[in-house]
Amino acid sequence: MSRLEAAARSLALFAARRIARNRQVADVIFDRCRGTADLARSALNHLAFILKLPRTFYLTSVMLEVTNLCNLKCRFCPAENMKRIRGFMDPALAEHVLKDCKNLQYVYLYDWGEPMLHPELPRIIETATELGHRTFMVTNGTLLNPDLAEKIIKAGLSTICFSIDGIGQVYERLRGFDYGRLESNVLEFLRIKNELNPGLRVEINYVVSPDTESHVNEFRAAWGPRVQHITFQPMLTYHQMPRKRPCRELWKGTLVVLWDGTVVACCVDYDGALKVGDATRQNISEILNSKEMIDLRKTHLKGQFCSMCSLCSEFETECVDGRFDGRMSDCEAGCDPR
Ligand SMILES: C[S@@+](CC[C@H](N)C(=O)[O-])C[C@H]1O[C@@H](n2cnc3c(N)ncnc32)[C@H](O)[C@@H]1O
Ligand code: SF4
Repeated sequence: MSRLEAAARSLALFAARRIARNRQVADVIFDRCRGTADLARSALNHLAFILKLPRTFYLTSVMLEVTNLCNLKCRFCPAENMKRIRGFMDPALAEHVLKDCKNLQYVYLYDWGEPMLHPELPRIIETATELGHRTFMVTNGTLLNPDLAEKIIKAGLSTICFSIDGIGQVYERLRGFDYGRLESNVLEFLRIKNELNPGLRVEINYVVSPDTESHVNEFRAAWGPRVQHITFQPMLTYHQMPRKRPCRELWKGTLVVLWDGTVVACCVDYDGALKVGDATRQNISEILNSKEMIDLRKTHLKGQFCSMCSLCSEFETECVDGRFDGRMSDCEAGCDPR
């Protein structure tokens, strides 16, 4: 990137942070957009939110919950309390959904559960790639081995994001998995991807919680040089201040398809409480502004929230802005969220 391009990008990012009034949201939107057309679509969706329209303009990304089964029981994860039946998404359903999508910024291959448990994960990635989509998978990385790494890289995965929320015992206490094994899985993946596809982007998601807040800078120093991006994500909680403002997530243009085809408006809805469509019967593009989605946005605009939306909140930290409530932190703690 030339100096001029870098300066233009910094200026645009500064503007995006001011407009979104939230660094976390601005940075994610900015990072995920491929070019000006993507940015314009996200900006128009944000405009619909600001103007309090009950509709939004574009489907910008789809999350496919390839499975809600998981091999870990992380201490901060609500997935263990899930009441939904557990299962694997049929690759034919993934194909049906993806065939109906145009100009997505990303197809996210996870929701609640561990995507690497899906026996046909490489096939789903390959289908998405063949249909022209960029794929983004978040994984705990514990099931990774050289054979699987090679298969998902060759299938065309665009971005992999490892969930690592600390070093050594901090990580082990939270995830119940050996830190040394996880680290060597990730380093081995980096070696293989540098051979097969150096362009594959590698990120880390770090959940900021009371257990991990004080280790943010140490973590960034250790892992920052190894990967392209670290997202410091505040831990979701369900019991702080009741919501007072509409949630911008409903206008962002993302829909979540659960493994059985149930479509929900938000990834936080781990039990599928707010069903807005059924991808086995409907086209995903129709669901973005389905009656259920419009009604949901209208209730938010009126300040009426169901119990899940009302209680959805995030751990308040100086390190990073929340994603779902539009707070803007000043980061005086010396953290530097990118
Ligand atoms: C639910 S997991 C699913 C993918 C995979 N099992 C993993 O852990 O990466 C997706 C992301 O949500 C994060 N996560 C889990 N519980 C969370 C919580 N209470 N608040 C915020 N993020 C959470 C995980 O760390 C992970 O980065
Ligand atoms: S954070 Fe991921 S790995 Fe941990 S329990 Fe939740 S879904 Fe499983």
